[in-house]
Amino acid sequence: MASGGVTRDVVAKVVAKHRGTPGELLGALEELQNLHPHKYLPPEVMEMAAEAAGVPVSQVYSVATFYAFFNLKPQGEHTLVVCRGTACHTRGSKSLLESLKKLLGVQEEEGAEKIFLTTPDKKFTVKTVACFGQCAMAPVVEVDGKMHSNVTDAKLKELVAAAAKAPAKR
Ligand code: FES
Repeated sequence: MASGGVTRDVVAKVVAKHRGTPGELLGALEELQNLHPHKYLPPEVMEMAAEAAGVPVSQVYSVATFYAFFNLKPQGEHTLVVCRGTACHTRGSKSLLESLKKLLGVQEEEGAEKIFLTTPDKKFTVKTVACFGQCAMAPVVEVDGKMHSNVTDAKLKELVAAAAKAPAKR
């Protein structure tokens, strides 16, 4: 079984490399996520990692779900993070998020707790964050790791258009 080129052999090697290091499972999962072309941990990779590490699959799942930097869904080529904190909300982040979803044609499932939406062509992933700690610059949107302040609807569209032309940054 292989997922995005992450074969059983690759998983075994990565797990063996981290054996005996502090936080060995964490380190191995992080490396496996980075090896996947869509920078995430599919269920089959977590199962292979559990087998290679000799731990229950539930233990791998609890590590992967506890730490925010693990992705359990495929990550798009470009990531847009909209702040949903109070300052950004007051200054229009909800409507920015709505127009972003409309622009990219993505919609969260009913009752979804966290926003993590990837376009079907895996070009963009849209996420939200509780606060970037940059409230004075609200509303804040991060595009491929770069923070943008006082974002308006027009600026958001420009940012999306620029990201679409840029090389993939996962
Ligand atoms: S509320 Fe958005 S940066 Fe703090």
